[in-house]
Amino acid sequence: MRFQGLLQLRRCAAASCASRHLNTIVTAAATRRLASSATALPDFTQKSDHVQRGNYATLNDKDVAHFEQLLGQNHVLTEDLDGYNICFLKRIRGNSKLVLKPGSTAEVAAILRHCNERKLAVVPQGGNTGLVGGSVPICDEIVLSLQRLNKVLSVDEVTGIAVVEAGCILENFDHRAKEAGLTVPLDLGAKASCHIGGNVSTNAGGVRVVRYGNLHGSVLGVEAVLANGQVLDLMSDFKKDNTGYHMKHLFIGSEGTLGVVTKLSMLCPHASKSVNVAFIGLNSFADVLKTFVNAKRNLGEILSSCEMIDERAFQTAMGQYKFLNAPIAGYPFYMLIETSGSNGDHDQEKINQFIGDGMERGEILDGTVTGDPGKVQEIWKIREMVPLALIEKSFCFKYDISLPLRDFYSIVDVMRERCGPLATVVCGYGHLGDSNLHLNVSCEKFNDEIYKRVEPFVYEYTSKLKGSISAEHGIGFLKKDYLHYSKNPVAINWMRDMKKMFDPNGILNPYKVLN
Ligand code: FAD
Ligand code: MLT
Ligand code: ZN
Repeated sequence: MRFQGLLQLRRCAAASCASRHLNTIVTAAATRRLASSATALPDFTQKSDHVQRGNYATLNDKDVAHFEQLLGQNHVLTEDLDGYNICFLKRIRGNSKLVLKPGSTAEVAAILRHCNERKLAVVPQGGNTGLVGGSVPICDEIVLSLQRLNKVLSVDEVTGIAVVEAGCILENFDHRAKEAGLTVPLDLGAKASCHIGGNVSTNAGGVRVVRYGNLHGSVLGVEAVLANGQVLDLMSDFKKDNTGYHMKHLFIGSEGTLGVVTKLSMLCPHASKSVNVAFIGLNSFADVLKTFVNAKRNLGEILSSCEMIDERAFQTAMGQYKFLNAPIAGYPFYMLIETSGSNGDHDQEKINQFIGDGMERGEILDGTVTGDPGKVQEIWKIREMVPLALIEKSFCFKYDISLPLRDFYSIVDVMRERCGPLATVVCGYGHLGDSNLHLNVSCEKFNDEIYKRVEPFVYEYTSKLKGSISAEHGIGFLKKDYLHYSKNPVAINWMRDMKKMFDPNGILNPYKVLN
């Protein structure tokens, strides 16, 4: 009987906390290794991409002495800077000679005041897990690392509002929220390394947007330091606050180009008592779509995630990481559907019924459902390891696009055809519930031939379908030449004007977002 598999999995509840622990270690270690590996360093981007250095001053000994006096010598780094200069994908490499680690908003303000007066360029950096080259210098910008601003300042279990410093690691923040019975409404594969300030600055999406919406809704207030050192206090403890322009939104997703986020308040929902995950195999993308529509219709109020993984993405992760434990295999498409609610029996009955109905109609070929926390983590790990598997041994062109659902997957087939044997893997996965596809094209190493087949085609294709060329990762350095595919010239000009107003000397994260 088909459901036998489901029941078996539910009964096999052993090793649940071990699995949770493994998840954290694997993700943190993998992200660190990938970010700082000394092998195969990329060329300096300024040289390889012929970047004209902006009209900035050059750092001198007096500047370094000034910063040492301000922060203390321990928090001013001038050696072993590769981990700060090289992006997570090992695609962008800057040549910064200085990393500053302020420990308070006042110190961030003093740093920026000095840099603005001296016209020294600065790149704000969180966990350096960004995927568009936004978090590393392009030339010799000073790296302003938020690592030391890492405290959760308060978590109020009555209001659900947490106040946190920008450099707090997402997973640590979530652990603190959980102690108060709450959850951070944002979850993503890089949670063990990324900072909440980095998440806000990229308006990171992740796997629960379908339930909680994006950060523009959850972030109630921000504190940001402007290029001239002024502290802009936009903190708020209320969901509703219509006092003039909603300026906090400018710092959500502006990728460190308008200010440095130092603190924020976030509305955290109550943690769900009952979480179930279904991992199902399907035959076609048409069946994936039908299943998504049915999930919305029948799981509506408890649906908390709806992810899709195609066969090639699944196989790449499974082939790369032997510790992954997949309950099913051998299908063209997989979906991970999560429910979160308050009544375990009710939620399980609903999700079992949903899977059973889908199987009867032949839309779902096989699947497992589990509410066991360890097994839930094991299934999530399959999804989380896909991006790491794709870059572990290969060069990977990564695209993060919003597409209308009916055309969601067609670009993967088209791209496979265009790349032919030049690519080792062309695959699609991502946040189906938000119409956000991650199209990935891997090859042994970067080469111009495949690059030209992929870009700008991928952006033209997306633009023709009125999609977005960046659903969640942002524009950074890698996509700035393509911004016009998603934003019209009038909008781009207003963005430029805003940038000039906030940062007249252009010291904050130059060479990013705008040309
Ligand atoms: P960084 O990479 O350090 O910086 C990102 C940008 O924000 C840069 O432009 C930087 O200058 C700026 N910045 C950082 N901190 C500040 C600050 N305090 N003030 C002003 N500017 C700042 N993204 C998603 O949206 N959804 C996902 O599901 C997702 N999954 C991922 C999975 C993996 C394995 C990896 C490696 C990345 C993933 N990402 C995802 C991409 C990335 O956007 C997120 O990891 C995260 O939001 C970046 O946070 P960070 O602290 O690492 O920021
Ligand atoms: C994800 O959803 O896994 C991330 O956004 C990373 C990626 O695009 O690979
Ligand atoms: Zn994503």
